[in-house]
Amino acid sequence: MVSEDFLRFPEGFLWGTATSAYQIEGAWNEDGRGLSIWDTFCRQPGRIRHGESGDVAADHYHRWQEDVKLMAALGLKAYRFSISWPRVQPQGVGAVNDAGLDFYDRLVDSLLGQGIEPFVTLFHWDLPQALQDQGGWMNRATAARFADYGRVVGERLGDRVTSWITHNEPFVAAAAGHLTGEHAPGIQDPMAALQAGHLLLLSHGLAVEALRAATSRPLRIGITLNLNPVQPASDSDEDRRAAVRYDGAVNRLALDPLLLGHYPDDMLALFGLLFPTIKPGDLERIAAPLDFLGINYYSRAVVRNDPEGPLVEASQVQPEESEYSQMWEIHPPGMYELLTRVWSDYGKDHPQLRLLVTENGVPVPDGLDFDGRCRDYRRIRYLRDHIAQVHRALEAGVPLAGYFVWSLMDNFEWAHGYGMRFGLVYVDFETQARTMKDSGHWFGRVIRENGLDPQAGG
Ligand code: GCO
Repeated sequence: MVSEDFLRFPEGFLWGTATSAYQIEGAWNEDGRGLSIWDTFCRQPGRIRHGESGDVAADHYHRWQEDVKLMAALGLKAYRFSISWPRVQPQGVGAVNDAGLDFYDRLVDSLLGQGIEPFVTLFHWDLPQALQDQGGWMNRATAARFADYGRVVGERLGDRVTSWITHNEPFVAAAAGHLTGEHAPGIQDPMAALQAGHLLLLSHGLAVEALRAATSRPLRIGITLNLNPVQPASDSDEDRRAAVRYDGAVNRLALDPLLLGHYPDDMLALFGLLFPTIKPGDLERIAAPLDFLGINYYSRAVVRNDPEGPLVEASQVQPEESEYSQMWEIHPPGMYELLTRVWSDYGKDHPQLRLLVTENGVPVPDGLDFDGRCRDYRRIRYLRDHIAQVHRALEAGVPLAGYFVWSLMDNFEWAHGYGMRFGLVYVDFETQARTMKDSGHWFGRVIRENGLDPQAGG
């Protein structure tokens, strides 16, 4: 019996899960894979919790067939995964490692065989170390290297892969990697962060061109951004102004060039000479037409004015009355606020554009009970409440094409190592045994019924 509150999604809505190469594959030095900046970073003392690394991760490189079976058991319509650039081009340029491409070739065929649409992310932070040695994302030549890598992968997989994401969260790669130093390559330099941000966006535009040229098939190409709804911590003018600056840095600094063809004036004014040189043609390339925009939503940002705050003199506060996960405030309405804002501010110029929630999920300190089950009720509640907000945005007219849970399985959570479990599937990292969590069974039902009862479960 379907309750009258049942939230039904449009036919063809893409229910999926997301992962990334470095976080799940392991096999860090097998079959010709070259070094990535994360292999290097994890070996630097103090960078990663307990000195952990993605050397083995969830061993997906060897267990991918079992994992595809789990995806089929979930009934996934789509699966978003990233390609390890150093597995395809060990030096980041030139010679292609066929064994690396063969791995993704087999994975794509297996997904298609199960009726699961592959969504390929070209870059999810694992830059070849050889390119970092040449300056990485601070070196303009890396943008051209990225486009060539996109061509190589597009030529091999473009006959079967239709949906492509050039970058995952380019500004996290820029900021965490070059401003705070919490991520690889561990640089702490505002100018480097802004330079990396600009060249990551430029590389996106070049890769869009390269992918479209790599095959005669029509492709759907997008980029995935981590965005936050931003609100001031108080009604004071200084906090309101801080919220505008913070919104400029975390949202508009990427959305404007990608979808409006220029950087926001207030950000250019704020950063002044810190901002990188924008060469003729850069903005036109960055604004290459997109078929979809991927949005990763986890939480909102409540910010106050903070003269010590990085780059924009603003820092987040944690509202006392909120519920929190191990990493962030849990704020489901922020999903609706973000999706409607992005569409309202950027959709009118791009009526053909579709939005996708390419990541949404929550870390929960999961464990297996005596009977082998993982009763992750908090995750079910988090997903239920956020999917309900996705439905609310659809009802408000936002052209949402799909929703991907982060993540299919527990994996390497960057600086947190294996301390944060996001999966619908529990991974015992000692034995690599997989166990479908209650949230996985629950999500499988959401997919089967193409919707959910917002009051049930969790
Ligand atoms: C991100 C990345 C993922 C993370 C996930 C949880 O959005 O930061 O795409 O690699 O693991 O978001 O933090």
